[in-house]
Amino acid sequence: PAYLREGEERGRLPVVRASFERDWAALAGIGGGGAEGYHRFAWTPVDLALRAWFRDEAARRDMTCEQDRNGNLWAWWGTPGPDAVVTGSHLDSVPGGGAFDGPLGVVSAFLAVDELRARGVVPDRPIAVVDFADEEGARFGVACVGSRLLTGVLAPHAARELRDGDGVTLAEAMRAAGADPDALGRDEEALARVGAFVELHVEQGRGLVDLGAPVGVASAIWPHGRWRCTFHGEGDHAGTTRLADRHDPMLPFAATVLAARQAAEGLGALATFGKVRIVPGGTNAIPSRVDAWLDGRAPDAATVDRLVEDIAAAARAAAVPHGVQVEVAVESSTPLVEFGGALRDRVATALGGVPALPTGAGHDAGILSAHAPTAMLFVRNPTGTSHSPAEHATTTDCVTGILALTTVLEDLACR
Ligand code: GLV
Ligand code: MN
Ligand code: MN
Ligand code: MN
Repeated sequence: PAYLREGEERGRLPVVRASFERDWAALAGIGGGGAEGYHRFAWTPVDLALRAWFRDEAARRDMTCEQDRNGNLWAWWGTPGPDAVVTGSHLDSVPGGGAFDGPLGVVSAFLAVDELRARGVVPDRPIAVVDFADEEGARFGVACVGSRLLTGVLAPHAARELRDGDGVTLAEAMRAAGADPDALGRDEEALARVGAFVELHVEQGRGLVDLGAPVGVASAIWPHGRWRCTFHGEGDHAGTTRLADRHDPMLPFAATVLAARQAAEGLGALATFGKVRIVPGGTNAIPSRVDAWLDGRAPDAATVDRLVEDIAAAARAAAVPHGVQVEVAVESSTPLVEFGGALRDRVATALGGVPALPTGAGHDAGILSAHAPTAMLFVRNPTGTSHSPAEHATTTDCVTGILALTTVLEDLACR
């Protein structure tokens, strides 16, 4: 690609490749891997191990590491201060996640700092590498908790009361991990430091494969959200309760799963039930309740609203003949993000022109974009698979991404 400049920079390719392989291997052993994928959840011992890895990477580079009030980690090249160029992503994962979603952006950020130094760049602005806390929301149900708290779109009291599947609150989990939940909240000082944010991320679809490009920039993030659908039935004996006497919440739930697919197809949207809790969960018991979480996404907000209304209506209609009650409650919702403006143009120009493409996946960059100029770089994913152990990017493309990020940071940090 054009942004891999001739000469010295191409000579760096084997060096960057070796550094990438070294850093990637150090991270690979933390929190799972292999066929089961990663299980890297907020404020668990695995999360603390990931944070220790981050601190070590910072220390190795003589970068000052700080944890902000909301549990986000910042490694500083230069004195922490306003108008910094910030890059990074997250280290947590979904249940059974891949290696790349999140960590690629953090590892690339550190290696881009190495490359800037190797190029002899003396930045005019501070540069920081960030690891946002709890991006996936795998444990407490709300995604991008660290960046939402930082920017104030999630209220601290609401965050503290979020519960995991065992009933442990975020506040309790933070305390157990040695962090202070009373400090949570919009952080003006940390926000004021972010002069620009660039998040590199593995692409989570096949857009770049289809375009034949190793790297692209994000044009938009679809509006999306999570809704909790509760089906209240009546628990009873599986061996003695006549079919006609049952109030089985699984039946309207099953109908709702099919209705969600149909609604999504009709609207050009996406609807997924990926998490279900069946209460009490006995093989020989008719459930008393089903809690199911709907993930809904579409290119525009009106379509997301329509999608959820249609699915809720289908759930209520399916519940009537079974004497089951349905509740649908929003747990989080994220508006449309358009990465426009000067920064996206500047990034694309610095790279000598790269494709721009939208995504249906949420990112901390989407949250930050309402507060600071923000851009995203995507690295090609050969199968498009993500949120799965099969998620992949080739080392060659990762190295290309690191060099592209380096060029972008150089451009932004040197006035
Ligand atoms: C997070 O990765 C999401 O988009 O759900
Ligand atoms: Mn993800
Ligand atoms: Mn991610
Ligand atoms: Mn995400």
